[in-house]
Amino acid sequence: MPSVSEILETMDYGPAPEATGEVAKWLFARGAFGHYIGGRFTEAGETFDVANPATGELLARVTQGTGADVQAAVKAARAALPGWSKLPGHDRARHLYALARHIQKRERFLAVLETLDNGKPIRETRDIDVPLAARHFYHHAGWAEMLEDEFPGRGPVGVCGQIIPWNFPLLMLAWKIAPALAAGNTVVLKPAEYTPLTALAFAEICAEVGLPKGVVNIVTGDGATGAALVAAEVDKIAFTGSTEVGRAIRKATAGSGKKLTLELGGKSPFVVFADADIDGAVEGVVDAIWFNQGQVCCAGSRILVQEGVAREFTERLAARMAKLRVGDPLDKSTDMGAIVDPVQLRRIRDLVARGEAEGAVLHQAECRLPAKGSFFAPGFFTDVAPANIVSEVEIFGPVATLTTFRTPEEAVELANNTRYGLAASIWSENINLALDVASRVRAGVVWVNATNVFDAAAGFGGYRESGFGREGGREGLGEYLADAKIKAKADPAPPPPETAPLREAPGVADPIDRTAKLYVGGAQKRPDSGYSYAVRGKAGVIGLAGLGNRKDIRNAVEAAHKAAGWGKATGHNRAQVLYYLAENLAARAAEFAARLKSAGGPKPAEEVAAAIRRAFWYAAQADKFDGAVHSTKSAHVTLAMPEPFGVMGIVCPTGAPLLGFVSLVLPAIAMGNRVVAVPSQAMPLAATDLYQVFDTSDLPGGVVNIVTGPRDELARTLAAHDDVAAIWYSGDADGTRMVEEESAGNLKVTWSVAHRDWSGPEGQGRSFLTRATQVKNIWVPYGE
Ligand code: NAI
Repeated sequence: MPSVSEILETMDYGPAPEATGEVAKWLFARGAFGHYIGGRFTEAGETFDVANPATGELLARVTQGTGADVQAAVKAARAALPGWSKLPGHDRARHLYALARHIQKRERFLAVLETLDNGKPIRETRDIDVPLAARHFYHHAGWAEMLEDEFPGRGPVGVCGQIIPWNFPLLMLAWKIAPALAAGNTVVLKPAEYTPLTALAFAEICAEVGLPKGVVNIVTGDGATGAALVAAEVDKIAFTGSTEVGRAIRKATAGSGKKLTLELGGKSPFVVFADADIDGAVEGVVDAIWFNQGQVCCAGSRILVQEGVAREFTERLAARMAKLRVGDPLDKSTDMGAIVDPVQLRRIRDLVARGEAEGAVLHQAECRLPAKGSFFAPGFFTDVAPANIVSEVEIFGPVATLTTFRTPEEAVELANNTRYGLAASIWSENINLALDVASRVRAGVVWVNATNVFDAAAGFGGYRESGFGREGGREGLGEYLADAKIKAKADPAPPPPETAPLREAPGVADPIDRTAKLYVGGAQKRPDSGYSYAVRGKAGVIGLAGLGNRKDIRNAVEAAHKAAGWGKATGHNRAQVLYYLAENLAARAAEFAARLKSAGGPKPAEEVAAAIRRAFWYAAQADKFDGAVHSTKSAHVTLAMPEPFGVMGIVCPTGAPLLGFVSLVLPAIAMGNRVVAVPSQAMPLAATDLYQVFDTSDLPGGVVNIVTGPRDELARTLAAHDDVAAIWYSGDADGTRMVEEESAGNLKVTWSVAHRDWSGPEGQGRSFLTRATQVKNIWVPYGE
C-alpha cells in the first residue's frame, strides 16, 4: 500500500464513479422516445441513436422530428398561448418555481444523465449545469411575479421556437425556457441531436408539476428538424449554436417579422498582464479552455500574455496541464471528460493537425486516454502566426492558442482582432488597467480576474458575429417581450429618382450651386455619381439633391469610423452638443418650417417645434440612460453597461422628413454612435438643411453623415457593409426583407422601424435608446 506522501506525490487516488443505476433504469424503461407535444409523449417515430461519448455505448433511441411533428408542436403551443399568457404573473411564477424545485429534487439524476449523454465530468454537471438550470427557473419565477410592474404595456411575443446546442443541454434549455415562460410565451424547443436526453427528462418534469398542456413542447431531431422549426408559424426564434447556422437562420427569417436572438460562436481573448496573479491566471485557463473539454462558446481560447511573464506563465501552465485528469466523466475526480461525439472529435483533430501543419507548436498533456470513447488530451499552441487557421477558427475543443503582447494597446488590438465578440477575460492586479481594457474590448461579457462565471441575473450574449440579443437578467427577459404596440402608418414608397447630371438639371438655374450635397466627415461633398435628382414640392421642383451611391456610403462609413472619439465622450459632453443643436435649430425654426411648407408638409411649424423638443429630450437622456449593477454571485459586482454599437446605418421614413430624421438620428448619437443616415428620399432637403446646424453646434465631423438618394439601394449597401454594426430601416416589407438578408454577412443588429405619428409619444422614448445600445456585462470580483 502506498504511503500518504507517495499518494500526495502521484495524486493517484482510486476511482470514485457516480452511480448510474437510477438513470439506467429510467432509460431502459423508456426505450425509444417520442416527442413531448401538448402535454404528452408521442409514439416514437423514425429514431436515431443517442450514445454515451465516453464509451460509445447506446443510451437511447430518439425520434427524428419531421415537418409534421414540428407543425403539431407549434399548433399545441399556439393553442396553449391564450391561457398561459393571460394567467396572472403570480400563477406563472408558481409554475416556474415548481419547475425549479423539481429540478433540484432530481439534481443527482439529471447530473448523471447529462454526463452520460454529453461526456462532461460529473463534477461540472453536479456543481454547475444543474444548479444553474434550477437557478434560472427560480430567478424567472421572480420575473413572472413582477412582470406587470416592471414592464408595463409589454406582453409576450407569442410562440417561441428555441434551438439549442449540445454543450450545455439542460442549462441552455433553462436559459431559453425560463424567460420565455415568465413572459407568458409558449415554446417549442429542439434540443441538439447529440444530447436530447435531459430535455426529455425535463418534459417529464413539466408533466409532473402540472404545467398546462402545450406550454412547453419538445421536438427532437437534427438540423432538418431545426430548419423546419425556423420555417414554422412561430413568432420568435431563439438560437444558440454555430455562427454558420445562425447566419442561415438570419437569412431564413428575413422579412418574416419573427423576432430573433442569436447566441453564436466566439474566439474569446484571455489577457494576462505582467502584474497578474500568475497562479490565479493559470487556474483561470483551466476554467477557460479545459472546462467542458473546451466546448464552450465563450471559452478563453486565445491566451494573450504580456512578454515579461510569458515564459514563466507558459511553464506553469504546462505543469498545471500535465496534472489534469482526463477520463471517465462519471468519476468525481475527473477534470476533463469526453468530447461530445466522434464527429466533433474528428473536427478538433483536423483543426489541430492543420494548426501544426501551418507552423504552430502544440503542447499537449501526455495523459493516458481511455481506450474507448471520444477523448482528446488538453493542449495549447505557441508560435501561432496570425494567419494560422487556429488563430481564427473556433476549435471548440480543449486547445487554446498562446501568443504574447507588449503594451496594453497591443493587447486590446489583438483581443479585438477577431470577427467574434462574445467574451473576454482580463487578468491584472491593477484595477485601473483591467477596467480600461474591459471598456475597450469588444465583447458582450468581460470577466476581470475570473472566467466563465454565469448567473441568471446577468445578461449574456455577444457583439459582432457572436450574435445579438441577451439571455439572462432584465435584458434577456426583454427579448421575450413584444414591443409596446404602436399605430403604424403607411409610408408611401418614393418613386424612382428623376436624375440629371449636376450641370444639366432642367428647370433649375445654376444647378450646381442649388444642389444639396452630401454630408460626409463634417464637410459637404459632391456625390460620386456626378448626378443629382429632382426634389418635388407642391409647386413642382423645389430643389436638387445629390444622387448618392455605394461609393458615397462607403466614404461615409469610413468618416464615421474616424469619429470614434464621440463614443468615448462623456454623456455630459454629448448632451451639450445636443442642447446646442436644439438651440441652433430653434434659431432657424422659421427657415425649416418654410422648407417643409414648400415640400407640402401638413404642419410645418409643429414639426419643427417637435424636432427642437426632441433634441432637448435626447440631450437630457445622454447622461442619464445608464446601466445597472446586478446582484449575481457573492463577492462580485456585475456591471451592465450600455455601450454604443459604433457605426450605425439609419434609413429614415419618407413621410416625416425632418421629425422622422431627428427621431432616429438623435437617440443614436446621444448614446455615442456615429451615424450614416439616408434621409427621406422624397424630401431630403429638410435633412440637408441641417448641415449648417450641425456645423455650428460643435458636432464633431463624421458623427452624422448624410447620403441622399435612392432609399433601398443605399440601404442595401449599408446592410451589407461589414463595418456597420447596426441598421435601422424605415421602409416597406420588401426593403425590410432585403435589409435583414443582407445584414447576415456580419450579423448586424437590425430594426425595422414602422412609420408612425412621430410627433406623439411613439416617436420618442427610452426604447429608442435601448435599441441604440448593446449591453456589456463586466464582472469584477472583490475581496482579498
Ligand atoms: P450547430 O450550430 O449545427 O447546431 C446547434 C443546433 O442547431 C442543434 O440543435 C442543431 O440540430 C441545430 N441546427 C443545425 N442546423 C440547423 C438549421 N439549418 N436550422 C436550424 N437548426 C439547425 O452546431 P454543431 O454542428 O453541433 O457544431 C458545429 C460547430 O458549431 C462546433 O464545432 C462549434 O464550433 C460550433 N458550436 C457553437 C456553439 C455555441 O454555443 N456557440 C454550440 C454548438 C456548436
